[in-house]
Order: sequence, then structure tokens, then C-alpha cells
Amino acid sequence: MVPQDMKTLITGAAGFIGSHLAEALVAEGREVLALDDLSTGNMENLRGLNGHERFRFVEGDVRDRALVATLVRDCAEVYHLAAAVGAALVMQQPVRTLEVNVAGTASVLAAATQAEARVFLASTSEVYGRSSAAVQHEEDDLGFGPSTRPRWGYACSKALDEWLALAHASEDGLQVVVGRIFNTTGPRQSGRYGMVLPRFVQAALHAEPLVVHGDGLQTRCFSHVKDTVRAICRLMQTPAAYRQVVNIGSTEEVTIRELAERVVRIAKSSSPIVHWPVEQAFSEGYEDLPRRRPCTKKLRALTGFTPAIPLDEIIAALCHEGARG
Ligand SMILES: NC(=O)c1ccc[n+]([C@@H]2O[C@H](COP(=O)([O-])OP(=O)(O)OC[C@H]3O[C@@H](n4cnc5c(N)ncnc54)[C@H](O)[C@@H]3O)[C@@H](O)[C@H]2O)c1
Repeated sequence: MVPQDMKTLITGAAGFIGSHLAEALVAEGREVLALDDLSTGNMENLRGLNGHERFRFVEGDVRDRALVATLVRDCAEVYHLAAAVGAALVMQQPVRTLEVNVAGTASVLAAATQAEARVFLASTSEVYGRSSAAVQHEEDDLGFGPSTRPRWGYACSKALDEWLALAHASEDGLQVVVGRIFNTTGPRQSGRYGMVLPRFVQAALHAEPLVVHGDGLQTRCFSHVKDTVRAICRLMQTPAAYRQVVNIGSTEEVTIRELAERVVRIAKSSSPIVHWPVEQAFSEGYEDLPRRRPCTKKLRALTGFTPAIPLDEIIAALCHEGARG
């Protein structure tokens, strides 16, 4: 049972997942402090919490160690979601990607260690690198491409975050859960930084071509953001999950070509589906991943969690929202 007045910091709270998480925790009775630099997030995402007595927003950078230490000081829990995210952004801003994801996480983990706060660290399925295994298990090897390709900087920075979190756990006794989040989507996600489903939905709603990268046979599993948030909350309430790395995601696997077809059908769109070479879609040196499907046994065993919202419902919700650019 969560104490009603537990003070909680969410970094990246004005972002897509962070804003849904903030709503869920405030609804649970928590006092939530939100930190965000509004680089990819925006205040519109937090409209529903504006003026709420148990919600406070602070604009700032997670790399600002003094600020983060001050915010974490009175918190029992920290959900660290702030990061440079999105294939397009990672390719365009490789320095910022590495600096925010590594130095920002170092700052949050140091402050949480000092304050003896529990931490949820948002990692990513990208850390599985070039894996083409049918299913990705938490104990699999991580196999990145070369450092001459900036696209691997994101995966590498998040893997380093995991190591740093687990190092604080073993050296300093930090109570931390590492969640490897697989593709999460739903209302409020922006297509601007390369996220596939909002991009498809927006194109379908404007009768523009849906651009599939490569042959479209690469597969993904999409989880609704409300399911992802439920899984994150359950993990943080489960003592056995601390010091563990846990996959979070859906197991409903779909090829990107099929995803485009489903979007066209559900949006009742006349849009054509076209294929572009992957390199043309982003820039030279980008490579797509062949297959992403989480093994969710560990998540289920720890928390009993299973995703509740199927893909067609997620697509319908995004079509309804009108998807954002
Ligand atoms: N959405 C997904 O499918 C997915 C998959 C795997 C992992 N994740 C992880 O989940 C987390 C949230 O991702 P999201 O999809 O909500 O993306 P998002 O871009 O909407 O959220 C990231 C938030 O962090 C903020 N931010 C960036 N740099 C910052 C800085 N220096 N200081 C303070 N705030 C900063 C942004 O403004 C934004 O609000 C990220 O850590 C991401 O790596 C997301």
C-alpha cells in the first residue's frame, strides 16, 4: 500500500510517457514534482494536472546536479524518464543524446543515492542492439553496431545508464528497478522525432502516403502507454523487482508493413503505402532493427502484469486523437 502523501519526482514528466505516469501517480494520491526542460515534451501534455494541489512543475535540465539534488531531497521515489529520444533526433543531435542520457542519469542516480530514494530507470529495448532473436530476454547479450554510426549512441547511452544504476545498487544499496521499455504508443505521442505509429496515423488522416522504411518486414510489438504506465507502477510496488532488469511491453507482434495496412483500414483512409530505403528516411549510417519482441515472463512473474489494450484499439485511439505532428 502506497502512503498517500508520498512525494515523488518524475523527470521527463512533460513528455509522452511521463505525462501519463504523472496523471496516474497523482490519481493514486501522490504528491508529484515534475522536472522537464521541454525539449521534446510540452506543457500541453500536463494540461490535466495544471493547478492541481498535489502537482508542481519545475522547468530545468536533469544534468543540473544542484537542482536535481534539491528536488530529490524530500522524495521517496524517483521515476527517471528524461532522455533524448527518437530515431530522427538521435541522428540529428548525437552529442546531446549522449550527454543528456549519460550525464543526466548520473545526476539523478547520485541524488537518489544521497536521498535514499527508490528509483525507476527508463531503459529501452534498443539495448538489445542488432539482435534478430525471435524473443528478447533480459539476460541476452547486447550487440551494438560500430561507434562510427551515431544511431547506436542512443542504445549505448541507455546501456551505460543500466550499468550505472546497477553499480549504485551494489555499491551504495540504491533501490532501483531498470525497466527495458519496448515500443510504447498512444495519445500524446508525437511523430516529429521519428515515432512510427503517430507518423502513420497522421499521414492516413491527411490522405498522404504512409512511408515504410525498407521492405516493411521488420517487426515490432506496440504497447499502449496506459499499459506501460501500469507495468512501471506495479514494478515500483514490488520489492522483488529492485536491482532487477525487466522487459516491459506487449507480445502482439506486427510487421511494419502490416501496421501501415491496419492504420489505413482503421482510419478509413485512401492513403497509399510507399517504401523508402532506410538510409533515405533518416540519414546515412542509420540501420533498422529486424525484430523486437519482449520475453515478458519476468514482468509477469514479479507483478502478475499482462497488457490489456490490443493494437487495433491503440490505432483507433490515435486516429481519434487526430495524432499530433
Ligand atoms: N516511447 C517509447 O516507445 C519508449 C521506448 C523505450 C524507452 N523509452 C524511454 O522512456 C522515456 C520517455 O520517453 P517518451 O517516449 O515519453 O519520450 P519524450 O521525448 O516524450 O519524453 C522525454 C522527456 O524528457 C525531457 N527531456 C529531454 N532532455 C531533458 C533534459 N536534459 N532535462 C530535463 N528533461 C529533459 C523531454 O522534454 C521530454 O519531455 C525515455 O527515457 C525513453 O528512452 C520510451
